[in-house]
Amino acid sequence: MPRPWPRRPRLVAGNWKMNKTAEEGARLAREVVTAAGRSSAALALCPPFTALAAVQPIVASTGVLLGAQNLHPEPRGAFTGEISGPMLVALGCRCVIVGHSERRHGMGESDAQVAAKLRAALQGGLMPIVCVGETLREREAGETDAVLARQVEASFTGLPPDELAGSVIAYEPVWAIGTGKVASPQQAADAHLTIRATLNRCAGAGAGEAMTVLYGGSVSPQNAAALFAEEQLDGALVGGASLEAASFLAIAEAAGGA
Ligand code: PGA
Repeated sequence: MPRPWPRRPRLVAGNWKMNKTAEEGARLAREVVTAAGRSSAALALCPPFTALAAVQPIVASTGVLLGAQNLHPEPRGAFTGEISGPMLVALGCRCVIVGHSERRHGMGESDAQVAAKLRAALQGGLMPIVCVGETLREREAGETDAVLARQVEASFTGLPPDELAGSVIAYEPVWAIGTGKVASPQQAADAHLTIRATLNRCAGAGAGEAMTVLYGGSVSPQNAAALFAEEQLDGALVGGASLEAASFLAIAEAAGGA
């Protein structure tokens, strides 16, 4: 079937989670930028907070985006242990992961908190990568579409077009994250369609088709090509396979090709 819209730009983002010291992160970033030009997809690296300053000078002026994994909704104040959007911008960050399932389910982040973080990121000039996705129990109960719609609506309802255009969504089924159990290309594409249809409903006609929607959850060099053959997928949010330059770059090349 011909595409009803020109292909959206592709993005592959590495979520290092709680891995890599500053020194290890700098080494990995150096390996990534050396070969990054081989992919036509945009690349982003999201190290832990403690490695951001070490990675920044390595990616600066390479086109590889620096991202963080979380932010606090407030710009400053008495929030012990937290990091704000303006602090990330001052470190050279261009994007930030918001509402990752390890924060929604592990730290109890609510839809409302995710929405507040999304707005804080946009206000600070950071591109939010907003994660949504169902648990295994929700999928088995036939609730996938309802969960995705709820999470997307909570974050994106009423967002003005320029802020929508500066946002990215990552569909990350919780059962696929870090498990080696990747969603099938068809499952991922179906979820992406639900996300786009929800955006059209809650944020205005055409918002869904315009949004960059990534897939995340056990993406590897072995399954990347099959996933990216689905035109619904605009790239990937990569966890485990982003901790080695070779596997991250192989995924980036698969996303950039075709
Ligand atoms: P994974 O993680 O690639 O290790 O499954 C993806 C993510 O959590 O963003």
